[in-house]
Amino acid sequence: MENKKYKTVLIGTGRIGFLLGFDKKREQPASHTMALLKNKKIELCAGCDTDLERLKIWQKYVKSHGSEGLVFESGSELYKNIKKIDIAVVAVNESAHLEECIRAIEARPRLVILEKPVALNSFEAQKIADCAEKNKVPVMVNHERRFDKNYALAMQWMEKIGEIQKVEAELDSGLRIYAKEFEKDGTYSLLHDGTHLVDIVRFLCGTELEKPVVTGVFKDEKKIVRNFCAHYNFCKSEKFGDVPEICIKMSGRSKFFEFRIEILGTEGKICIGNGIADFYLRKQSKLYTGFYSLEKQKVRLPKKTQYFSGMVENAVGFLDGKMLLLSPLKEAIEDLKVLEEIKEKL
Ligand SMILES: NC(=O)c1ccc[n+]([C@@H]2O[C@H](COP(=O)([O-])OP(=O)(O)OC[C@H]3O[C@@H](n4cnc5c(N)ncnc54)[C@H](O)[C@@H]3O)[C@@H](O)[C@H]2O)c1
Repeated sequence: MENKKYKTVLIGTGRIGFLLGFDKKREQPASHTMALLKNKKIELCAGCDTDLERLKIWQKYVKSHGSEGLVFESGSELYKNIKKIDIAVVAVNESAHLEECIRAIEARPRLVILEKPVALNSFEAQKIADCAEKNKVPVMVNHERRFDKNYALAMQWMEKIGEIQKVEAELDSGLRIYAKEFEKDGTYSLLHDGTHLVDIVRFLCGTELEKPVVTGVFKDEKKIVRNFCAHYNFCKSEKFGDVPEICIKMSGRSKFFEFRIEILGTEGKICIGNGIADFYLRKQSKLYTGFYSLEKQKVRLPKKTQYFSGMVENAVGFLDGKMLLLSPLKEAIEDLKVLEEIKEKL
């Protein structure tokens, strides 16, 4: 099986499926198409999108990069024509995750890669999980930070900062956080971005997030939630013991985008997020005799975080029988439940 190429199809050739691969500022590969084409063990043979213009551009691009470039206007057409699929990637809009993911699972590939969030809510997500179990098809969810080398470093630093005192995770953007009318298509930040924030906190700390106390809920004139802070008390972590406090904060009225997590230990601190990876340890203070301060450590960061190629490598490693899935469906469904518990209190 070592030299086998995994036959892969892509459903959804939009931003994350394809177009972000052209963003010059992003670390590349930044889309499924570019990450799949880059992996030597993948044969990206077909794509599908309901937007035929996009599909045509996708076809031209992948053909020029050695792919067969078969294209279909719907998932059902694709699965009728392409058999023995190893990997089906589902990168359509949230509102179509349930339908397209179930369609993909029923085609019985060896693995489905599903974009985040799993679905519009945990009820739909459970339908996906039931279908996956029935058909014995594993599903992984693209919560990309789980594959990011900077976060892997942060995991190592966590061993060095003593006992964890508190974790503050914050996401600031201009997208509304929540109002009921946006549940139908998932176009609200609590779901859209909050899934990443909650997922990486649970991944790093190895804790569940349950029974939050929610404060600082700010609603705009249209009653749309724009700020909140969810506090979790004494979260159990097998790896780190009880974490006394975890705060998940979100803003949906910031004129900037920021994603960051600060982990304060008894002997150090970690700040990790988009464009940040800082590690502090206690050292004798330069300002006061007999005191200790936190000092930023010189660290060598990897040249590339490989957040996207790492995800594809995990998929390949899994099919090779060499890796476990780092971002299994079950974990992503837990994330949705955490978000829903917060939503109830907004
Ligand atoms: N992991 C990440 O960091 C990340 C980043 C961006 C988007 N996403 C997620 O990826 C998904 C897609 O987001 P996007 O920004 O690429 O959206 P997009 O609108 O740019 O692309 C979605 C594409 O899917 C196509 N599509 C929709 N329904 C379809 C169907 N039933 N069959 C075939 N094609 C269909 C659309 O025509 C469109 O081309 C969303 O779930 C989003 O949350 C994840």
